[in-house]
Amino acid sequence: MDSTVDVGEQAQKAREKIARLKEELDAVILAHNYQRPEVQDLADFTGDSLELARKCVGTKAEVIVFCGVRFMAETAAILNPTSTVLLSHPNAGCPLADMISVDSLGQWKRMYPEAVVVAYVNTTAAIKAESDICCTSANAVEVVNAIANEEILFIPDQNLGHYVSTRTSKKVILYPGYCSVHADVTAEEVRLAKGRYPQARVLVHPECRAEVIDLADAALSTSQMLRYARQCNDRTFLIGTEEGLLHPLRRQNLEKEFFLLSDKLLCPDMKKTTLAILSETMEARENVVTVPEEIRVRAKRAIDRMLEIA
Ligand code: 13P
Ligand code: SF4
Repeated sequence: MDSTVDVGEQAQKAREKIARLKEELDAVILAHNYQRPEVQDLADFTGDSLELARKCVGTKAEVIVFCGVRFMAETAAILNPTSTVLLSHPNAGCPLADMISVDSLGQWKRMYPEAVVVAYVNTTAAIKAESDICCTSANAVEVVNAIANEEILFIPDQNLGHYVSTRTSKKVILYPGYCSVHADVTAEEVRLAKGRYPQARVLVHPECRAEVIDLADAALSTSQMLRYARQCNDRTFLIGTEEGLLHPLRRQNLEKEFFLLSDKLLCPDMKKTTLAILSETMEARENVVTVPEEIRVRAKRAIDRMLEIA
């Protein structure tokens, strides 16, 4: 049998099954910009963390199927307690989010009692509940600059926190977490790529190291990169974020070229969701993500403060 046809047929069957289950469950499917192309293509909405969080506020759907990683599905459950939230794959986590525990945050808060705690959304619900305000990569600078306090404890991504510190007069204390997908990109790789494509615009995610950001034209969230590429007249771009973003970049800009800055830019957790796994999750109505009410209410306060600012 022709295996390509077989794979194609299987994918088509999975798509049809997902469409049927979507009706049966009264579900909305959200997918992060890093998801596999075939998952992004069947989602009702794709976006960065901020856009997807906003989509969860007040959705009427009975079920939110979140194709992404656990902290994103938790954010959906925090913002919309009336919908049932299913995480597309049971073990899709974010190693960055797991780098800070409630105990270690407690120790840091005791070390810096005057600081306002700004939590990147890439954190667990329990960490958000212990924080003053959340931010995403799309609004971190805006959020920090909107805070009246002069001292900020930024958790858990030191690279995003450092980037923010270069755009504010406030004192930003950095917790030492990082995303290895982005932090592994080196300045040398950027220099080599720029040597190969000297005319290219370089767009990187602010989870990259400072020396990588210094060599880029802009540090942007994933959806901000999509907007930048659409609006920019240049035709060649070097992209410093997870490879899933190449799919919408290329689809939205057929006449432009996009290259990854490094072949390390692949997040294994974001790639766990396949069409087959997604349809299994929906069929069994499993991987329901819930947040204890006492934590949910406090975490929501930190997210709502962010949404009011940005
Ligand atoms: P964005 O919010 O920019 O989409 O980023 C999320 C993320 O996990 C980055 O690694
Ligand atoms: Fe987490 Fe990094 Fe993967 Fe984003 S790319 S989900 S920060 S591990």
